[in-house]
Amino acid sequence: MDRQSYQTMMRGAGQLDYEIYLNTEQLLACQKEPDALCNPDELQFMIVHQVEELWMKLMATTLLDIDDEMQARNSFKALTLFRRVHICQEMMSQQLSLLETMSPKDYQRIRLLLGNGSGQESPGFRVLLKMPKDLWATYVDAYLDGGARTLEQVYDSDYSHDDAYMIAEALAEFDEQFQKFRNAHMQLIYRSIGVAASSLKGRPVEILNEGLRYKMFPELWQVRAEMTDRWGSTYGKKRDKLDPKTHA
Ligand code: HEM
Repeated sequence: MDRQSYQTMMRGAGQLDYEIYLNTEQLLACQKEPDALCNPDELQFMIVHQVEELWMKLMATTLLDIDDEMQARNSFKALTLFRRVHICQEMMSQQLSLLETMSPKDYQRIRLLLGNGSGQESPGFRVLLKMPKDLWATYVDAYLDGGARTLEQVYDSDYSHDDAYMIAEALAEFDEQFQKFRNAHMQLIYRSIGVAASSLKGRPVEILNEGLRYKMFPELWQVRAEMTDRWGSTYGKKRDKLDPKTHA
């Protein structure tokens, strides 16, 4: 195959309406030119990171819209937008596995080009870490009547599967998907550079374990733990075995 002519074709001429509207000329110039790549895997490495930044941009923008919809208590609209965010999150975790098709040696070559860069410098990731505080304040204001209603009521004593419950579960799903990304990313690190390695900043990769324990909305996990204790108080700390005759 004539590699050169196919590569020219991939760029396109940037003149057709599709290319003009989507700005394909600029978009496809965001990766290194083929002869500047240190190895063929470097193209994939750049594209996966760039695509993930775009998903995070879409997620962060959608979360701003969700905040507006929650304030207006347009719960159906907010839930549809949450679904969009959750799908982006699922894709983000899934797409990491593309990088597991790269051999450890091919990655070592790429890694030498990354300076002391770290994913912690990702603009998308940083903004997503900052947003939960504001989202939670809006949730409390709009769905818990500024704190007059409690999560215990929403989840247990007054439980009716209402919009306050559904929105809380959408926030919990966001939190859970975030954890799933961090877990998948940790596996990717182990696969690429090993378990006991250091990052390009010289820090042990194990410091990322702290993030694996981080909860964006601790109240949403706490309410479940409190329910387990409360409901469990009927049997105490440890439950006896069921009686095979009475099943009680
Ligand atoms: C071979 C692939 C990859 C390796 C070996 C890798 C490795 C690492 C390492 C060692 C760190 C810790 C850096 C530090 O000390 O600050 C880190 C952080 C991070 N990386 Fe990656 N990474 C890879 C791919 C990706 C991809 C595709 C993304 C997509 C967005 C990404 C996003 C992040 C983020 C967001 C953090 C910060 C995580 C946190 O604070 O919990 N990484 N990565």
